[in-house]
Amino acid sequence: MQVGGTIRVPGDKSLSHRALLLAAMAQGTSHIGGILTSLDARSSARVLRQLGVDVSPLTAGRVVKVTGRGRLRRPAESLDCGNSGTTTRLLLGILAAHRFPARLTGDRSLCRRPMRRVTVPLIAMGARITEHGASGTLPLTIRGGALTGLRHEMPVSSAQIKGCLLLAGAVARVPVAVREPHGRSRDHTERLLRAFGFRVEERDGWVELEPTGAFAPFQMQVPGDPSSAAFPVGAAILAEGGSLRITGVCVNPTRVGFLRVLERMGARVRLEELEIRFDEPVANLVVQPASLRATEVSESEIPALIDEIPILAVLATRATGTTVFRGVGELRVKESDRLGLIAANIRALGGRAEALGDDLFVSGTEASPRGRVVTEGDHRLAMAFTVLGTVPGARVTVDDPACAAVSFPGFRELLRKLRQV
Ligand code: S3P
Repeated sequence: MQVGGTIRVPGDKSLSHRALLLAAMAQGTSHIGGILTSLDARSSARVLRQLGVDVSPLTAGRVVKVTGRGRLRRPAESLDCGNSGTTTRLLLGILAAHRFPARLTGDRSLCRRPMRRVTVPLIAMGARITEHGASGTLPLTIRGGALTGLRHEMPVSSAQIKGCLLLAGAVARVPVAVREPHGRSRDHTERLLRAFGFRVEERDGWVELEPTGAFAPFQMQVPGDPSSAAFPVGAAILAEGGSLRITGVCVNPTRVGFLRVLERMGARVRLEELEIRFDEPVANLVVQPASLRATEVSESEIPALIDEIPILAVLATRATGTTVFRGVGELRVKESDRLGLIAANIRALGGRAEALGDDLFVSGTEASPRGRVVTEGDHRLAMAFTVLGTVPGARVTVDDPACAAVSFPGFRELLRKLRQV
């Protein structure tokens, strides 16, 4: 396949959730351009409407207006967070600072994901939480109130836990300090809170928030999602010729660990027209096909590429040698057991991959991948293996290609478009 042309990817998922939630806490109307309109972003918009916030429809290409009242209102019904772990965990932080009860639930995948990593520290701050499901999962009811400050060593590096606790501190106006065990997860919450005047400092591995700021309506243009861009980047690297430009992508260093790994593997991804927008670095990515070699990805690199492991693993199947991803046990509790399914699907397509403890080993092959991919509704698995299906001689069937809409509406059409050039 040849690639070519200039494309855009949808707005960043992490920033879209955070923009909606922070606009909801302001009194007045915020305007958010470039927002992601995927199913996950709609989950945040939907639950905020139930909490008394006016959110205009999320339509591609349209600015979204969010009118908040400074506080959320008691919801009449359960809040269905769909497939979205980010909606659930960040919202729990905000709800912990509100005095009414709210019941949160989600789809089958979300109801299997661990919530005690956020509920335990929120309870320590003073929130009351009742679990209705299996231990430590949704559905649950939170009743917030007057919180006290928190100093907390997180069990895993996670921007959802960090963001939840920082938002709880910011909304309840109490100091919060958190520390991550391995590497630094995405820092969008810190950057956004600083824009509202909160003091957020990084000291000796701790992220410390002082509640010095106040939420106010804002205007923002959400840049393209690097985690979505990673899929066309992967397709371009596997192509036989041409060059692809992806414009306006967020290149925050805590998000683009995959570009550093790809460089080690021998791929060339050039950043051009770098600029700063709303305190986030944004650039065009220019990618060419490349021959890849294996690499070792260390545990401290994982937080900055946590969502890109499916596509990196797929690319590792086309590299010479065996690529190792160290300390990727967190993948077991993503939208699916990603660790198990990455390895099983690579093997189902005739490749070699193994999950041993918390490490993932993927060996390269020149044989064409052939077989059926089981996604269990996991959008990133669907997209990664669809990309693998573009190599010469491949015959890859993905069981649920439509689940890409969780984060990347129009993914298949876009991939088809860049291949036709
Ligand atoms: C996200 C954080 C990551 C990531 C998810 C989005 C966020 O999860 O996998 O897609 O926006 O904070 P963890 O922080 O739990 O690793």
